Amino acid sequence: MNKALESLISDTYDEVAILANAASLLYDYLEDVNWVGFYLVKDYRLVLGPFQGKPACVYIELGKGACGTCAETKETVILENVKTVDNYISCHDETNSEIVVPLIVNNKVYGVLDIDSTTINRFTQQDKILLEESAKIISKKLETLIAKSST
Ligand code: SME
Repeated sequence: MNKALESLISDTYDEVAILANAASLLYDYLEDVNWVGFYLVKDYRLVLGPFQGKPACVYIELGKGACGTCAETKETVILENVKTVDNYISCHDETNSEIVVPLIVNNKVYGVLDIDSTTINRFTQQDKILLEESAKIISKKLETLIAKSST
């Protein structure tokens, strides 16, 4: 999956196009997921970015929900059962588990990659490793984009 991701975005030099195609590829490759997308840090909060799945919450404050926690701690968050978590923002009733991976660009939190499943306990440590690698591929690409735009 990550090889396919790398080659898919290798010749793309536009933020929205990179994130939109990445969301689509992950949605297609991963089994048993109902939402894949990005939230991006803008003006000290998260704003909905490119995604696949049903319409979702637009703004998330840092520290709030799985996405806001991930952006604040810069650590991957895995929720085995979202229905039992207090600090959780429910965008879709059918979602039961979730993984959120930080996108670190030039040592700063640029946003998060958020993936939901209707299955309880869908996301394993293997998924964490795989998706942290996906996030790294996307982050590196965004870093080259920023370097190009500032020259
Ligand atoms: N559940 C997330 C909100 C985003 S949606 O899942 C698409 C959260 O708790 O941050």
